[in-house]
Amino acid sequence: MARVAQVTSTPPGLTSERGCAITGWGSALPSTVVTNQQIMTLFDTSDEWIVERTGIHERRAADGPFVSPRPASSPPNGMGTTAQLAAQAGAQALAKAGLSGADIDMLVLCTTSPDQPIPATSSPVAEALGIKGGGMDLNAACAGFTYGLVVACGLVAVGAEKILLVGAETLTRLTNWSDRSNAFLFGDGAGAVVIEAVEGEGSLLGWDVGVDGSLQPLFFADYGGPGMSMRGQEVFRRAVRMTVDSATKSMERAKVSAADIALFVPHQANLRIMTAVAERLGLPEDRIASVIGHTGNTSSASIPIALAEAADSGRLAEGDTILLAGFGAGMTWASAVWRWEPGRPR
Ligand code: UT7
Repeated sequence: MARVAQVTSTPPGLTSERGCAITGWGSALPSTVVTNQQIMTLFDTSDEWIVERTGIHERRAADGPFVSPRPASSPPNGMGTTAQLAAQAGAQALAKAGLSGADIDMLVLCTTSPDQPIPATSSPVAEALGIKGGGMDLNAACAGFTYGLVVACGLVAVGAEKILLVGAETLTRLTNWSDRSNAFLFGDGAGAVVIEAVEGEGSLLGWDVGVDGSLQPLFFADYGGPGMSMRGQEVFRRAVRMTVDSATKSMERAKVSAADIALFVPHQANLRIMTAVAERLGLPEDRIASVIGHTGNTSSASIPIALAEAADSGRLAEGDTILLAGFGAGMTWASAVWRWEPGRPR
């Protein structure tokens, strides 16, 4: 698939010399920590097994099925919905960019755990942040945020100036807490970025997205069902292959090699998947942005949370080339090579 900068036909009245840059970022985690020791009270497992198989030490839980039946050990934390987490991360990203909700042309909320079937969860988020420009949900499971980056840059290419892109999840509401094969994996949280139009080539240097709908049975949750159901080993194997293939395509399209990548920001599903992908791409482990140890798998939110934590801890310098890559239920996958340039004039 062609990258945005290679699109040759320009809609009337628009210039092809428009790119996009990330100018603000933020993240939000509910305050309730769920340790592996707490998971051990639910079914037969151990801290050692979970850490060795996944790299996860703890995850966060919004108010809901995990927190509510356990008021003594986990009192409500006031973060009960995907919209609340999204609004908190979005407000941080707006503040960092020096903008308010009124400046935003479109809110794109990537989530696989919307608060209701109708309306889209972007509606309460737009209300909380004072956004009137437009709002929609995007569900591409754990690849959602990277899909969202491509969508946001497409919107900028056809004339939008400022986009708020959020990944937010309350997966603990969809977790089957009696299923020991996967209940230890998931957590709640949100991450957000502001994307603004800039003159000339933008920060999106190469991208790739894909879906293989024949793999739906590997990972799904039904309305009214017991929660998420996953064939872990089969997802694991495909995740490594798909992520490596997709990232390789994005890097080829961006004309960069592993040596050019300052930071790899993968979907945080399992530390073993993240390191296996990095190794196959020729990226040293110290260039992986990892938050999975304290967040678990937060699906659409995992990449923007990892990105925001990397930026806030000084791991990113202006002009750095970064690689983002995710995969998830569907199965979906997506990757992007991105130049980190929040200081770009706009
Ligand atoms: O977000 C995108 C989608 N999700 C993913 O990317 C997840 C992909 N999959 C995975 O991360 C891994 O498959 C898991 C972490 C879910 C499981 O790890 P695994 O290394 O694939 O374990 P396994 O399912 O092959 O199970 C190995 C053993 C089995 O015992 P036997 O048959 O070897 O005796 C399981 O019964 O571990 C046992 N087991 C457990 N033991 C302790 C399964 N669950 C547990 C548990 N605690 N919670």
